[in-house]
Amino acid sequence: RPTLRVGVLGSGTVGSQVIRLLLEQADDFAARSGARLEITGVAVRDVDAPRDEAVPRELLTDDAQAVATSNDIVIELIGGIEPARTLILAAFASGASVITGNKALIAAHGPELYAAAAEANTDFYYEAAVAGAIPVVYALRESMAGDRVTSVLGIVNGTTNYILDEMSTKGLSFEEALAAAQELGYAEADPTADVDGLDAAAKAAIIASLAFHTRVGMNDVEVEGIRSITADDIREAHASGCELKLLAVAQRREDEQANGISVRVHPALVPADHPLASVHGGFNAVLVEAEAAGRLMFYGQGAGGTPTASAVLSDVVAAAAHRVNGGQAPRESSYADLPILPPELA
Ligand code: NDP
Ligand code: HSE
Repeated sequence: RPTLRVGVLGSGTVGSQVIRLLLEQADDFAARSGARLEITGVAVRDVDAPRDEAVPRELLTDDAQAVATSNDIVIELIGGIEPARTLILAAFASGASVITGNKALIAAHGPELYAAAAEANTDFYYEAAVAGAIPVVYALRESMAGDRVTSVLGIVNGTTNYILDEMSTKGLSFEEALAAAQELGYAEADPTADVDGLDAAAKAAIIASLAFHTRVGMNDVEVEGIRSITADDIREAHASGCELKLLAVAQRREDEQANGISVRVHPALVPADHPLASVHGGFNAVLVEAEAAGRLMFYGQGAGGTPTASAVLSDVVAAAAHRVNGGQAPRESSYADLPILPPELA
């Protein structure tokens, strides 16, 4: 079997588990992808910081540019816009296939990244960017390509779902529940993105782009987070037979009043018998309505190092198999130019 060189940018919650699994299951990955996957370098900020013992210290470097430009497959798990964007563009320019879980970057710069992948004629994959372990990017991009999606409704942020649950079931304060979510590896490096709905909004933008074959960016999403939700609000929701959930909603609307899509994130009362009401803790769920298929529901762990590593590694196998056998990831299918509806028409 050929050997492919793999560089990893970032070795935090997700990166460390990706590295652990790649090393522990090296033979399995070789069999599944058709290539031996050799990790040649792991870029971090501080090579001396304590970290998961599964990450070999001799692989650590603070030269992220070298890792980005000297490998066949580059896995970006740093997060945020810069330097992640510049490193990914450098990786494409060097001919590498790129895998990321960085929804903030995709929601802000998706078209630029797709264009760079097309220019380099390599793969760009980001399954981990939406809903952790749940293969919702694959589902929308490939499984649903033969259908016309009309709406996607989801709980796509594990941190806020966990916080709302812990506040209601254990009586924790907002701050205590957030600290527990951080401890579990659910929260972003800056948890403001979770709490204020921005992480869910980035995912909603990606979902809407894939579902409706159009370009939806972060600025197109109406966002309200959970910062103002109190334990009393949650108790009142329960008293009225509902659960309080942070929902991401992407809908197509075609009628005499409106023609376009609406994309929004906000807390909502979900009736107890609705499929999303029983999604608790760090779990996520995504409910897709399509004209021919009807309703589909995807459910699973939406955050955390190991579940998210599963999604990253599915992309690694696909990209490796393409480099060995030919074939490529789907390109951006942006053929519709659907207007984003204002809130009053949504
Ligand atoms: P962490 O904050 O745990 O890890 C970030 C890693 O990147 C650290 O190893 C850090 O180095 C390194 N890093 C940060 N800045 C730089 C830099 N300038 N140069 C080199 N390395 C740098 O993040 P997560 O693992 O939680 O998340 C990574 C990505 O995955 C993000 O895009 C996130 O949105 C996404 N994601 C996360 C999920 C989760 O559940 N945590 C789920 C789905 C997606 P050092 O260790 O030295 O500080
Ligand atoms: N911070 C994110 C969440 C990680 O809580 O859902 C998974 O994308």
